[in-house]
Parts: sequence; structure tokens; C-alpha cells
Amino acid sequence: MENTASQKKGKKPVVLSCIQPTSVPTLGNYLGALKNWKKMSEEYDCVFAVADLHALTVHPEPAKLRQQILEMYAIMLSIGLDPEKNITFIQSQVHAHAELAWILNCYTQFGEASRMTQFKEKSQKHADNINVGLFSYPVLMAADILLYQANYVPVGADQKQHLEIARDIAARFNQIRGETFTLPEPYIAKVGAKVMSLQDPTQKMSKSDPNPKASISLLDTPDVIIKKFKSAVTDSEACVRYAEGKDGINNLMGIYSCCTGLDFDQIEKEFEGKGYGDFKVKVAQAVIEELKPVQENFSRYMSDKAYLLDTAKKGAEKAEAIAARTLYKAKKKVGLPI
Ligand code: TRP
Repeated sequence: MENTASQKKGKKPVVLSCIQPTSVPTLGNYLGALKNWKKMSEEYDCVFAVADLHALTVHPEPAKLRQQILEMYAIMLSIGLDPEKNITFIQSQVHAHAELAWILNCYTQFGEASRMTQFKEKSQKHADNINVGLFSYPVLMAADILLYQANYVPVGADQKQHLEIARDIAARFNQIRGETFTLPEPYIAKVGAKVMSLQDPTQKMSKSDPNPKASISLLDTPDVIIKKFKSAVTDSEACVRYAEGKDGINNLMGIYSCCTGLDFDQIEKEFEGKGYGDFKVKVAQAVIEELKPVQENFSRYMSDKAYLLDTAKKGAEKAEAIAARTLYKAKKKVGLPI
């Protein structure tokens, strides 16, 4: 990684990411993102948040949202993020996010926000509710990132454009008002798989897939996990090997590799002469083992809501201390009284 200003001062780079409190993450979210959060949390100064303000754009039912925010926070702790060593909090509990977002709205061009593919896609999908929040969603995301002077932001392909606009907004603000924000860079994980749907392995595994057999939830029971893997779509070659055109098997091999640490050659050897039935059960078992500690932690945390709420509050206080400094700077630079 290149030498950024914060590294020169001998500080660790700051890594920031957020996750929306929609339904329970999938195995894809876990292997592709959350598991890497845990790894990064050991190396960097990490800031992780539940992006609950972003979730408001789709008008979730309030009681359901409240529950999902808590569950997502519990999941962050359950995957092993240590609230003592990292900053783990709920976005809406730190008011600087909404405040900086407003200032940044005024430094974002209508044209550039209109070009966001996610906005265009979402507006098409929800033509009855194209609200302004949906439009300025990337500006709030920019505020999330810039408040903590993040050096790196681990994001999937679907959020790359949002990270680019965050950089553009930061660069514009810095240029007009003077050096204020660190320009964030995308963090591309060295490991971690892109997990595909079990029913259509040409598509990414998605929590919004209408076919429940297509995705594994982080909280699926062992029985359900076995059933879903048994019905995973494969091919008719009956040979466990990684090859073009074998999307279903390639996907299962990727999942197995992520959970066991074995590489593809080793996996091919292990299943030489064996059928897909055996392989699918082995993959399911590896996933069950991988998720077991997360699930155990999750039920422990969810049975102690007071602890969760208290930990979130403390996390928000730590976040607030950093965010307030950046907000102060930005307000001063634009001429607001402080
Ligand atoms: N928009 C992101 C998503 O849906 C979530 C998010 C909100 C985020 N704020 C962020 C991701 C800041 C990275 C950094 O996945």
C-alpha cells in the first residue's frame, strides 16, 4: 500500500465500511465482505457501521427496521469485530453524518449524482418512490467515509462508483475550500470469493432473490444448509474440477476453498472419482462449521439487548469524537459559526 499522510505520521491506515440493515446477510456477503472486515480489523484502524440512515430510502416498516438495525449490529460483533479495538457503531447515532451530508450536497453536482447507475436502477425498480434521499444516497455515503478521513474503503463492485463520487466530492471541496478530507481509495481484498446463486450460478448470490434455495443466510440452520446445497444447480459431467462453463461446480469449489483454506488443486484431488452428491454434502458441512461460531455468538448477543445497545452507544461516542473534528473543520471552512 502506498504511503499516505496518516502512515507517514506512523499511524495505521484507517479502513471504513458500512453495511445496510436490510435482511440477514448471505453466505456471499460473509465470505465476500464480512470475513475480510474481521481480517482487516487485525491490521488497520477500522471503523464499521450499520448504515441505518441509508435504509430509510426504501421506507422500511419502523418496528422491522428497529429490529434489523439491532440484528445487523449483533452480526458485526458476532463475526468477531472487537468493539474495544475497532469502532463499531450505528450511523444514525452519530449526528455528524447527516450534518456533513448536507454540506456535501452543496458540493455535489446534480449531473454527477444523476449518473449513478444504482440510482438509475433503483428508480426504475421503484418507480413509485423515487425520493430525494435515494438521489443523494451517495453523498451520505461520502460523508460516512470522509468524516473518519478513511484511507481505504472495502467495497464490492456495485459500490465502486459511489466510492469514486466520494473521492470527487472530497477533491472538489478540498480544491475550493482548502485541504479538509483524505481522499479514500478502494480496498480490493486479496482473498474472498464472489459467491454465486446456488440456483443460477451465473448470477451473484443475493438476499433479495425470490427463490429461497438460491442463497444461504448467515443464520440458516444446518438442516437447511444441507438441503440447499443438495439442490444446488451443477452440470452433468460428474467431475469435480474448476473449468469454464462449470459455473455451479466452480462456485461450490470457491465456497469450499474459502471455508477450508484448500486451493482448487487440493479440492480436485480430494474429490477425484467421487460424485457431486458427496461433494455437495462436504461443502455444506464446511459451511456449517464456518458459520457455527457466528451463529452461536449471534444468539448470545441477541439474548442480551442491553449489552448490544450499550456497546453501540459506546461505539457511537468513540465515532463521534473523530467525526466531530472533521465536521468542525468543514463547517469552519465553509463559513458556518462553530
Ligand atoms: N451503500 C453501501 C451498500 O449498500 C453501504 C454504505 C453506506 C457504505 N455507507 C458506506 C459502504 C460507506 C462503504 C462506505 O453496500
